[in-house]
Amino acid sequence: KEKSLDKIRKRVSSCKKCSLYKERKNTVFGKGDINTRLLFIGEAPGKEEDLIGEPFVGRAGILLTKIINSIGFERKDIYIANCIKCRPPLNRPPSEDELRQCEEYLIEQIKIINPKLICTLGKYATLNLLKIEEPISSLRGNFYEYLGIKVIPTFHPAYLLRNPRDKALVWEDMKKIRSFLKNESI
Ligand code: URA
Ligand code: SF4
Repeated sequence: KEKSLDKIRKRVSSCKKCSLYKERKNTVFGKGDINTRLLFIGEAPGKEEDLIGEPFVGRAGILLTKIINSIGFERKDIYIANCIKCRPPLNRPPSEDELRQCEEYLIEQIKIINPKLICTLGKYATLNLLKIEEPISSLRGNFYEYLGIKVIPTFHPAYLLRNPRDKALVWEDMKKIRSFLKNESI
């Protein structure tokens, strides 16, 4: 697994398939336990992630860590990846074309890690995987499937920073994740 992921990581680090390579400082491939049963997928690197080369290390990352801890996991127990591996300028949402160009890396990553459950963070990651044109508020907390793997969407932690009232809904989603993984291991 490690070798296969390293191969893709190398390809990503020199990738110029879309114009986002021009302004990146670092590619952000993903981080965590490659044997995890739970994979989180975010949108794209922000400023801090671009500087450090790791996913979710800024303000949204601190909140994501708390969310992960709330169901008894440490960050090192799970894996975090993004749909897009290079930072979009000014943190604008990734374009359709960029998502399509970068998708092959994410697909390979998911297949190699082969988790039991994927939690998509926010509308872009959710739409990118599920291709269902519905608001994240109606998709979240339900189970879907991608590449034969169960998917549960939830709100993006950056959205929660702006809308803290919806943290309660994410807590509901986290409880579903916890009980899914518990039942799954029986
Ligand atoms: N937001 C994301 O979607 N991904 C990151 O890595 C950081 C912020
Ligand atoms: Fe390549 Fe993805 Fe970076 Fe675009 S965002 S240059 S497709 S790695």
